[in-house]
Amino acid sequence: MARSQVFEHSSASEAARAIIDVANVHYSIDVAGRPLHILKDVSLRAESAEVVAIVGPSGSGKTSMLMLLAGLEQPTEGRIVVNGQDISRLGEDELALFRRRSLGIVFQSFHLIPSLSALDNVSLALEIAEPDLSLKDVRARAAAALESVGLGGRLDHRPAALSGGEQQRVGLARAMVANPRLLLADEPTGNLDQATGAVVIDLMFDLARKNGTAVVLVTHDPGLAARADRVFTMTQGELVDTTSESK
Ligand SMILES: Nc1ncnc2c1ncn2[C@@H]1O[C@H](COP(=O)(O)OP(=O)(O)OP(=O)(O)O)[C@@H](O)[C@H]1O
Ligand SMILES: [Mg+2]
Repeated sequence: MARSQVFEHSSASEAARAIIDVANVHYSIDVAGRPLHILKDVSLRAESAEVVAIVGPSGSGKTSMLMLLAGLEQPTEGRIVVNGQDISRLGEDELALFRRRSLGIVFQSFHLIPSLSALDNVSLALEIAEPDLSLKDVRARAAAALESVGLGGRLDHRPAALSGGEQQRVGLARAMVANPRLLLADEPTGNLDQATGAVVIDLMFDLARKNGTAVVLVTHDPGLAARADRVFTMTQGELVDTTSESK
């Protein structure tokens, strides 16, 4: 894809500004009539081309944080600006458009469509993101994305005929195929052996550096976190910059 397409909505000066600007966000949900305070006064900025890792114990709020960044949940308090848009103020239609055009997500579980082949799973995401592309271009770019994650020989496999790690890589190809401004990845290497995990991480760094995508990745792997530009630690819903301790 031409770089001009990637930056079609932003001037050079805008490209240098924060892709994510989260300020003093609280997130509570109601559990059996009582509020459960999941995120507490969380702030986070990420620039274009920056890779940010979030580490922290199970249940600390990492996935919840990604859900808010994706606009899939709304903060109870505070502001979440992504790519210049305050996503807590968007309506459902605008949010859907934001997710389609600006966002790639790799979930902790893969969420592939079981009845579609790997190629069709990735093609569908690109068709939705860029409805004006020809079918030929869609399939060529989807195939290239799958090749880049090492799955050129598995294009016609449905998810059930792929290993867990292969499914995760299809998920990654799907998240990256439309060159999003923001990529959110929840344990993207959790199901992969070390060598495949390293390939997947290299691809995410490539996307960040070449396309200016901001990447927020949740990981339990300290080696992986240390490669990120900045590292944040989530502890019981509080997010702290621990970059200096992680390097
Ligand atoms: N819909 C929900 N209803 C009730 N509790 C929830 C809900 N969603 C999240 N929680 C709780 O919020 C806390 C944070 O959950 P979250 O999934 O964000 O943790 P996490 O840091 O991603 O953990 P893990 O590393 O295990 O994936 C947990 O204690 C979880 O049980
Ligand atoms: Mg999680």
